[in-house]
Amino acid sequence: MKKYNVGIIGATGMVGQRFASLLENHPWFEVKALAASSRSAGKTYEEAVGNRWAMKTPMPENMKNMVVFDATSDIEKIAGLVDFVFCAVDMKKDEIKKLEEDYAKAECPVVSNNSAHRHTKDVPMIVPEINADHTAIIDAQRKRLGTKKGFVAVKSNCSLQSYVPALHPLMEYGITKVLACTYQAISGAGKTFETWPEMVDNLIPFIGGEEEKSEKEPLKLWGKVEGDEIVDATTPAITTQCFRVPVSDGHTAAVFVSFDKKPSVEEIKEKWNNFAGEAQRLNLPSAPKQFLHYFEEDNQPQIKTARELENGMAVSIGRLREDTQYDYKFVCMSHNTLRGAAGGAVLLAELLTAQGFMD
Ligand SMILES: NC(=O)c1ccc[n+]([C@@H]2O[C@H](COP(=O)([O-])OP(=O)(O)OC[C@H]3O[C@@H](n4cnc5c(N)ncnc54)[C@H](OP(=O)(O)O)[C@@H]3O)[C@@H](O)[C@H]2O)c1
Repeated sequence: MKKYNVGIIGATGMVGQRFASLLENHPWFEVKALAASSRSAGKTYEEAVGNRWAMKTPMPENMKNMVVFDATSDIEKIAGLVDFVFCAVDMKKDEIKKLEEDYAKAECPVVSNNSAHRHTKDVPMIVPEINADHTAIIDAQRKRLGTKKGFVAVKSNCSLQSYVPALHPLMEYGITKVLACTYQAISGAGKTFETWPEMVDNLIPFIGGEEEKSEKEPLKLWGKVEGDEIVDATTPAITTQCFRVPVSDGHTAAVFVSFDKKPSVEEIKEKWNNFAGEAQRLNLPSAPKQFLHYFEEDNQPQIKTARELENGMAVSIGRLREDTQYDYKFVCMSHNTLRGAAGGAVLLAELLTAQGFMD
């Protein structure tokens, strides 16, 4: 298979660094361009990142001396060097929307971690195991943008990356309502304990915008492509509370769920254990072999032992039991910067490549 040349927009940030690490030895993709703000442009990647490198593995040798582009003024140059870009930038929503569409209009597809386009009706928001069929909307988006190749595709927010996959195989039982409380790691805010010492021995019962995203985005994932838009699902009713907790990586969710046709505990576990999505069927390089792992032990899944499961791309579930108010409750967790951010975007790019959208 030919190698695809890729760029990372926002390469100096937390998610951008994760892209750089994940793509270092990727079998299909090769990093040819790195971009960030004008503060970093013109410096080598090593100089631009400085003491911000937050990955456990060293900065990839082949990227250290790459000169960082300006993400906004060097679009044409970058588009000329690569087949598509990954994007994770800290800018205003309107600026991100424009930036991503500018890359698309330069015939450079964008696989984005940003939230700006998540509710644009012709931009697919995809978890490859859940709604790989939503790529069908790309033709309509290309028509709107006037492009032949360029388009924007996004991944969903990291907060729902554990509970939506756990609920998805149970949809056939008619999920009526969901309550989810999330306990989210500090890397989700682009922080470490060194840069956010106030989080040691602390919990913050608020993450701006997170509850709205956690309640709304699942309905787009479970929506349908109709004509030139994705129409959101109208059920289940979802309510959430999102907390920031003193954990470096890994978001946990405590989930309560009710059904039209209540399944048995055995049926639910059987659905989880046997679930495979398009990512597994296509055997994509970053896909976990088993997406959902159910743990029988009462004290699992724990962040420290479960977050790296299947290279941080699996979802861990435990403590399924009946509830007094809802039909069932359970706990689930996933790695927020791997499955929940850069890893999920790399998997999405692999899906789009396998489906022929990057050619
Ligand atoms: N952290 C997570 O787990 C996570 C999960 C899902 C989604 N996200 C989303 O991913 C995006 C990036 O998050 P992050 O945690 O990686 O943020 P971050 O660590 O603050 O990094 C931000 C990146 O954006 C670049 N940037 C800032 N202003 C810019 C501008 N005007 N033009 C071009 N580039 C600019 C920065 O470049 P300089 O270094 O030059 O300033 C840096 O590369 C955000 O939209 C966030 O919501 C994050």
